[in-house]
Amino acid sequence: MKIISIANQKGGCGKTTLAVNIAATLSRLGNNTLLIDLDPKAHATFALGYNEKSSERRTSYDIFRGQFDGTPVKFEELIISDRENFSFIPANMMLSAAEINLGNVNGAATIISKTLADPFFESFDYVVIDSPPSFGFLTLNSMCAADMILVPMDLSYFSFNGINSVYRVTSLLNKETGRSPQIFFLMNIYDKRSNFAKQFEIDAKYKLGPYLLSTKIRSSVRLREAARVGKTIFEHDPKCKASLDFYNLTSEILTSENINAEASLKEFVFHAPKAGAVYVLGDFNGWQKTEASRLTQLENGQWSAHFTLSKGKYRYKYLVDDKWTHDPANPQKEINTFGTIDSILKV
Ligand SMILES: Nc1ncnc2c1ncn2[C@@H]1O[C@H](COP(=O)(O)OP(=O)(O)O)[C@@H](O)[C@H]1O
Ligand SMILES: [Mg+2]
Repeated sequence: MKIISIANQKGGCGKTTLAVNIAATLSRLGNNTLLIDLDPKAHATFALGYNEKSSERRTSYDIFRGQFDGTPVKFEELIISDRENFSFIPANMMLSAAEINLGNVNGAATIISKTLADPFFESFDYVVIDSPPSFGFLTLNSMCAADMILVPMDLSYFSFNGINSVYRVTSLLNKETGRSPQIFFLMNIYDKRSNFAKQFEIDAKYKLGPYLLSTKIRSSVRLREAARVGKTIFEHDPKCKASLDFYNLTSEILTSENINAEASLKEFVFHAPKAGAVYVLGDFNGWQKTEASRLTQLENGQWSAHFTLSKGKYRYKYLVDDKWTHDPANPQKEINTFGTIDSILKV
């Protein structure tokens, strides 16, 4: 069984659209697939047409409920399976109660991963989990269970902030649980005619290297319609460009096992509690000051950004409130042709 978690703290970037339609593609390719809606807003539940009587149905909340009040959960009662090869665990608003109560539960972040380890779920080839737009306990459960985390990005520069957060959360998970799922990012709602999209793609490639999937989900009215009428894209219009994009995306995911081998993730950290903006510019991002090269401010006066670098030697500098400085935390440095100091990083 392979577990794919769709996560990004940003709302509206396409998590639910991806979760529903990747699960639908996997099932159409003959895989026994389970989709779990872990968002209290239950958008995946609506997008699959299950709008009614949600209060009478078992939902993903019942998985968590047993942890607070001891109510035993019968897994077979959770599952809706009226589509071929496609089972579904819906959500409803009650899940927000889980989010609040989980703070008091030991091992709160691993409830979904432990649940999916039950022999009941053995028959599934793939489990896809849709997560809410936050890094609360529900998303942690989703990411903690995952073999692969997929992060959709709508083409807004806020997405680059999100990337840093995803890396921070996964390194925290790694410390706590020893697990290191694959992480891939992809561009959604892509409009190839726009110059903005082209520039975004260049920046994203610099930042993410091979972690950026090459398949993009193009902007498609069909996708919006499908969600509104409670259908997967294949039920709504199997011949549209979005259906094709989802086939391509899913096959890229299925063949991506070894992609990460060549490149490594590097975190750039700069201490500047009073700074207003910090960028890292270097050979790895074409010395371009863009949102992709901006560091995110952390709570402790540190600024941080992640880049994925292939093997090689890189020169870089920080730009702190428009003043250049080399990296004081890195003893490796060289004088450049302008007579100033560059920091040196060897990967
Ligand atoms: N590729 C796309 N083309 C057009 N509309 C899209 C696309 N992906 C998502 N949408 C629409 O954008 C909105 C937000 O998507 P959604 O999947 O609900 O995001 P999230 O789950 O991250 O909040 C929805 O109305 C959805 O139909
Ligand atoms: Mg959603």
